[in-house]
Amino acid sequence: MHRSENIVWQELVIKRSDREKRNGHSGFVIWFTGLSGSGKSTLAVEVERQLFESGCNTYTLDGDNVRHGLNKNLDFSFEGRVENIRRIGEVAKLFVDAGIIVCTAFISPYKKDRDFVRELIDTGRFIEVFVDCPIKVCESRDPKGLYKKARAGEIADFTGISSSYEAPERPEIRIDTDKETVIESADKVLNYLIKYNLISQENK
Ligand code: ADX
Repeated sequence: MHRSENIVWQELVIKRSDREKRNGHSGFVIWFTGLSGSGKSTLAVEVERQLFESGCNTYTLDGDNVRHGLNKNLDFSFEGRVENIRRIGEVAKLFVDAGIIVCTAFISPYKKDRDFVRELIDTGRFIEVFVDCPIKVCESRDPKGLYKKARAGEIADFTGISSSYEAPERPEIRIDTDKETVIESADKVLNYLIKYNLISQENK
């Protein structure tokens, strides 16, 4: 595949600020990262539900879903994961530009890739949430039966078993899903958003 050439950036008339004004809140990304089975999707869905019900314009991008469509041609090799996150980062950036609050739930195991997305999005609009959960607990939950398969050698490059996960060092928020309920965890995220004026108290 060739890189695009002879392309010029087209300025759009309607700005992000216009969209945000109409929406009544800013556009930003809540980036959930963690092992498979750590609770990323569950938490992302709950945070989105609460934001949506309070009138925010929201969307959730989830690893398994995006890999059914946009990223169906990518595997779980190092290169496949890098490209997965690069594309999601660009999609998340478009959502932010549209004034939408986007929750993303991808393992996103590599620090460099998460930092790439952080750089892509304007300062203060990328909130990294480390969904921390010991692998033992994730493995005992095994909601999709994948740890069992990975242990049996039926899945190669499985995160936490035969592929690495680089935990965030300074995430905006850290959640211990083996110690808190989903509602308590979601509350932490929403309180952070209020504290940093990303949403107003009425949106909670
Ligand atoms: S990422 O590493 O590239 O960020 P992503 O979040 O898109 O991963 O997809 C992870 C999901 O794919 C897991 O929750 C699991 O259901 C499934 N999966 C299938 N194979 C693997 C694998 N080798 N490693 C991790 N997850 C896998």
